Amino acid sequence: MPRAELIAAARAIRENAYVPYSRFKVGAALRTPDGAVFAGCNVENAAYPEGTCAEAGAIAAMVAAGRYRIAEVAVIADSPTPVTPCGGCRQKLREFAISGEMPVTMATLDGGELTLTIAELLPGAFGPNHMQKA
Ligand code: THU
Repeated sequence: MPRAELIAAARAIRENAYVPYSRFKVGAALRTPDGAVFAGCNVENAAYPEGTCAEAGAIAAMVAAGRYRIAEVAVIADSPTPVTPCGGCRQKLREFAISGEMPVTMATLDGGELTLTIAELLPGAFGPNHMQKA
């Protein structure tokens, strides 16, 4: 699936975001190496810390479908500049990224776009590789 379609999938699921508190809808879509696409949106909660990010929703959908590798990610929001994943989501994405070179495209609703690798977003990341002796 080309990058534009991944962004389109993120844009579409964003509409379903449950954001009564922030009013800030976010959509995320990811592609696995076998070409499957999973998407998620943010889901907030009256107990604010219990809200979940769009990226976390997309990852949960992927894992529930029995896939554990991410080849590419797109995130979109109605922000002045391309929306960047929060720190926690960078770590969550890193867990399943095929490599540090995995591209994360951040987009705005009006067509702004920025692509960085997960290693650029989370340099020096702690990852599953560090636990190989455990
Ligand atoms: N949010 C995401 O879902 N993903 C991001 O990459 C940035 C922030 C959500 C969390 C919360 O529901 C709202 O955006 C405002 O922080």
